Amino acid sequence: MSVIGVASMKNSPGVTTFALALATTWPGGDTVFVELDASGGELGGYFHLDRNIGIASLATELRRERDPDVLFHHTQTLPGGQEVIAAPVGPAQAHAAVTALTTTLPEVLRKSLGGTTLVADLGRLAGPSAELAASMDTVLVMARPRLTDLMHLEGLAEAVPHAEIILTGPGTYPPGEVIDALGVKVRAHIAHDPAAQWFIQGRHGRTRFVRAVRRVAAGLAKTTRREGAA
Ligand SMILES: Nc1ncnc2c1ncn2[C@@H]1O[C@H](COP(=O)(O)OP(=O)(O)OP(=O)(O)O)[C@@H](O)[C@H]1O
Ligand SMILES: [Mg+2]
Repeated sequence: MSVIGVASMKNSPGVTTFALALATTWPGGDTVFVELDASGGELGGYFHLDRNIGIASLATELRRERDPDVLFHHTQTLPGGQEVIAAPVGPAQAHAAVTALTTTLPEVLRKSLGGTTLVADLGRLAGPSAELAASMDTVLVMARPRLTDLMHLEGLAEAVPHAEIILTGPGTYPPGEVIDALGVKVRAHIAHDPAAQWFIQGRHGRTRFVRAVRRVAAGLAKTTRREGAA
């Protein structure tokens, strides 16, 4: 199993939209999308999910039982078929659940989950979400290629050695300059695409956004498989 975290440092660059699209376009499709955003979840509101099932109920069960299969007791299925573990919408409840998971989830993630890939929306890479990021295989940090976003990524290479950057939307800094300045690999640049806003509403057409995320998913899946086989 591999665990991919997606996060921002600031300025809402599209983490939830990208992370959900990454899970949905992952080759083979055996993925669980988990909202570990301590400021509150998005999916519960969009898809009218059962509020009693999600990371809060997961945190409660993991206090008693550290079996990886426990994750699957707390998933719900989105209309398009994606399995998700949603965060509470309320920030206080979401923060409490993500904080509780910092003491239990890393141990579970270290154990095998067969071929399932977990894609986590970490929200801002701070506090409990940053703690959880430390136990993941790869952390994709999203930022617009402009100084007001990139300055918040200073020190990322040291703080999160397994981080990679996803640039998104317009800006003046090309990937090469970002790599030179921050010493962190740039995995991709996802262009601004107004169609991206439809994705989280469950409309998964063959948009430029979906094609771009699918390419990232294919590349990451290959790397992960190679590392798993090594
Ligand atoms: N590639 C894109 N092109 C254009 N708009 C996008 C793109 N990705 C996301 N958006 C839009 O940007 C807004 C923020 O997206 P999203 O909620 O995914 O960001 P976030 O980083 O998770 O924000 P938050 O900090 O609130 O968690 C939404 O309106 C979404 O539709
Ligand atoms: Mg978000």
